Amino acid sequence: MNFVAALNEAAAKNLRVLEDQIRQSISEDPFIFEACAPLIRGGKRLRPMLFLLCANAKADCPPEKTMPLATALELIHTASLVHDDIIDTSKKRRGVETANSKYGAQIAVLVGDYLFAKAFQLVAENNYGSQVQLILSKLVKNLCVGEIMQDRSLFVVPTMNDYYTRINLKTAIFLSSCCRLGAIVAEMNDREIDNLTAYGSGLGLAFQIIDDLLDFFGDETVTGKPHGGDLKSGVITLPVIRALTVSDNAAQLEKIVTRDNVTTSDIDAAIKIIRATDAVDYCRTRAEAHIDSARINLPLTLKTSATLALEQIADFVVDRTR
Ligand code: FPP
Ligand code: MG
Repeated sequence: MNFVAALNEAAAKNLRVLEDQIRQSISEDPFIFEACAPLIRGGKRLRPMLFLLCANAKADCPPEKTMPLATALELIHTASLVHDDIIDTSKKRRGVETANSKYGAQIAVLVGDYLFAKAFQLVAENNYGSQVQLILSKLVKNLCVGEIMQDRSLFVVPTMNDYYTRINLKTAIFLSSCCRLGAIVAEMNDREIDNLTAYGSGLGLAFQIIDDLLDFFGDETVTGKPHGGDLKSGVITLPVIRALTVSDNAAQLEKIVTRDNVTTSDIDAAIKIIRATDAVDYCRTRAEAHIDSARINLPLTLKTSATLALEQIADFVVDRTR
């Protein structure tokens, strides 16, 4: 299922306005536009859409109140991907060449910094206030801590606990913050704010687990990035953690994933070992459990159309192929 197909008409209209605003936000400088436009084009817009859906979930929220922050969320996300691709020395993202591959790491660092600064400029110019700024700063800090945690333990098999801490910092806190910000901008009550935050958190954990599965088993022409990238860069994720506990070939798999010069044939061998276990089903079952918890947390006070859209996004997160 396509993510956009999950949206109701009002949300789809918001998405069109958002696309214009994102384009505008990178148009001030010709080089930044040239470097960022292809990258920005291929995103799913999950983060700004979650924010917009939550902000409009009880009553329509004026676009002046929502669009700058929605744009800022996508810019922060894109900035983090530009930096992530430098760290991972990735060549392809969202179906196009990464900034580091095209311009080198020096320029790519600055492109990421620019997008990041532009996001905070939008927030400051539109007077969102300290509560919003605090949530944004904390989510970026958590992204960095998650990434540092990951990079300090490359080629090391994490405990289940460490894996969850990492995906929470890297992804779940971002998605839950998008939902929380939507609820705050819409001036919902504390209970609704907390429930939408919990919805985003469940969604985020499921999203990252599926992302980690797609890294092994996704179709490169659909995901927009080559498969096996995590193993190559030494990031050990749930499919491997599970296979290591149940596979007859666990010793061989461990040797592959902890060696810091993984070849294409190593990746194929690892995939074969993982496939022979219940790891794929196990990851899906876990992701579905987080999605169930996300759904349960949806406040009963939302418009039916909003509940439906948020439920469909939950379905999209587990059924997605990119
Ligand atoms: C992609 O996930 C990367 C992230 C979720 C976070 C990366 C964060 C940073 C580099 C630090 C924050 C920096 C700024 C400027 C805000 P992934 O690596 O699991 O997935 P992938 O396969 O798409 O790379
Ligand atoms: Mg990465």
